[in-house]
Amino acid sequence: MPIRDGTWTRLFPAEDLAPGMMVGVEVGEHKLAICNVRGTFHATQNVCTHAFAILSDGWLDDDIIECPLHGGRFEVETGRAVREPAEEQLIIYPVRVAADGVEVLLPEDEA
Ligand code: FES
Repeated sequence: MPIRDGTWTRLFPAEDLAPGMMVGVEVGEHKLAICNVRGTFHATQNVCTHAFAILSDGWLDDDIIECPLHGGRFEVETGRAVREPAEEQLIIYPVRVAADGVEVLLPEDEA
């Protein structure tokens, strides 16, 4: 269960998500995909921009998320759509690793 701390929300201990892995988490109304790309954590929206698919049910290929439904691909760091049929970029969220775990920064009005 994520713990809220202002707008930074602690998700889980950093060691719980190994490099090359992706996991879906929910914070309130937000569905997030958290990825560990070579030791750096990233967060994007977890619902594909093409249709309704949960990206964390797909695949993380280095720094690219592949959607499980139609194979659209997105750059994890920027959210940019890099393969059709996905065209619209993903929302990305700042992530930091604090002493007690991975944290994501959600906009105040969306938190
Ligand atoms: S739903 Fe993701 S590419 Fe179509």
